[in-house]
Amino acid sequence: MDHWKTRFGFMLAAIGSAVGLGNIWRFPYITGEYGGATFLLVYLVFVFLLGIPLLLAEFSIGKAGQKDAVGSFKNLAPNTKWHWTGFMGVIGGILILSFYSVVAGWSLYYLYSYVTGQFTDVTPDGFGPIFEDWISNSLSPLFWQVLFLGVTLLIVVRGIKGGIEKANVLLMPVLALLMVFMAMYVLTLDGAWEGMKFLFQPEWSQLGNPDLYLTALGQAFFSLSLGVAGMLTYASYLKEKDRLPAATVGIGVLDTVFAVIAGIMIFPAVFSFGLDIGQGPPLVFITLPSIFASMPMGTIVAIIFFGLLTMAALSSAISLLELPVSFFSRTVGMTRKAATYMCTSIIFVLGIASSLGFGIWSGVGIGDKNILDVIDFVTANITLPLGAILMAVFVGWYLDKEQAIKNSEIETPVVANVWYVIVKYLAPVIVLLIAIASIFVL
Ligand code: PHE
Ligand code: NA
Repeated sequence: MDHWKTRFGFMLAAIGSAVGLGNIWRFPYITGEYGGATFLLVYLVFVFLLGIPLLLAEFSIGKAGQKDAVGSFKNLAPNTKWHWTGFMGVIGGILILSFYSVVAGWSLYYLYSYVTGQFTDVTPDGFGPIFEDWISNSLSPLFWQVLFLGVTLLIVVRGIKGGIEKANVLLMPVLALLMVFMAMYVLTLDGAWEGMKFLFQPEWSQLGNPDLYLTALGQAFFSLSLGVAGMLTYASYLKEKDRLPAATVGIGVLDTVFAVIAGIMIFPAVFSFGLDIGQGPPLVFITLPSIFASMPMGTIVAIIFFGLLTMAALSSAISLLELPVSFFSRTVGMTRKAATYMCTSIIFVLGIASSLGFGIWSGVGIGDKNILDVIDFVTANITLPLGAILMAVFVGWYLDKEQAIKNSEIETPVVANVWYVIVKYLAPVIVLLIAIASIFVL
């Protein structure tokens, strides 16, 4: 069977999955909408208290189950319904990639437009109309989405060692360098300090907003790629000797560092140019280009930024595609090639809806949410927490304690016990409370 060549290769691929549009596109605009530092604080608590322990639980299912999202549960819990958890993940992964590839397509289009010089003469206030005009087209955004999905397909079809691992070993170091460079550059701008205050100085009164908790939970799980069994799938390709705990902590910490750096990169820039922080999804597609347009060497900085965004999106999209491909090839019995082409086609067709939701289908949606917003909301705030909690309940309540701890590969007994209590009691209770609170608020 196909495996990661090294544990380091697995780590890079898992970091590649975690670090993506979630950090650089979703985290800043949501943090902007929810007031900055207070949101960041709740988010950080969720990542460290729940996210990382649950990520280890998810990894442990894949590593012990040795198969895809569905097959791993069938191996560990034969003749039960637990594999439906994995099946929900497969559907969730397909839905996430359907809108994720739309936004990734925007990023690719921006990259292309900067490289070919089409954006060089646009004035700072010209990007709002440019973006609105362009996404309301039916065909052009779909073209870029297909192109992005095509690249993803070409990597996934080559398998774990030959495709996914190689791509990530190349992408991730470049990504890290570009990002640190961008953040340092932005901090030299006038007024950067206001942005740092927004990101790091909490306003306690906002802690009373119940909506904040579900959004922070969803963002934490989305960012860690937690709860859809994509990480489970990646862990199933590990060799027996490669241990989980340290890798899990490393992945969780790095994903968080990337999100905070993205914040440091974006908020100071937004404040120093006096732009609107609460813009929602277009934030990095309207606000940042306006900033680039008024900077010296802005085009180069823009090329670096959208190159970065596209690469980060690609390494996450790879994991989102591998999730259903792994299910259809290992449990259903299709060839990898057929599974990859089929899944990519399904994802593209579903993605059309999210894309057209910015144009001819802009009337379709719930409240002020368009199709993309609805799919994003449902997957991040419902599917992921539900999936993660089902996995926690599986590890905490279905498996016996000895088995669960053995699968987690934690060697220090105290740490193992703390982890077990979080997975078995704390995480399900907190998520349940947030779910109940949200139902009353909605
Ligand atoms: N974690 C990715 C991001 O932050 C998104 C993702 C979610 C990837 C779920 C895989 C599974 O962009
Ligand atoms: Na992320």
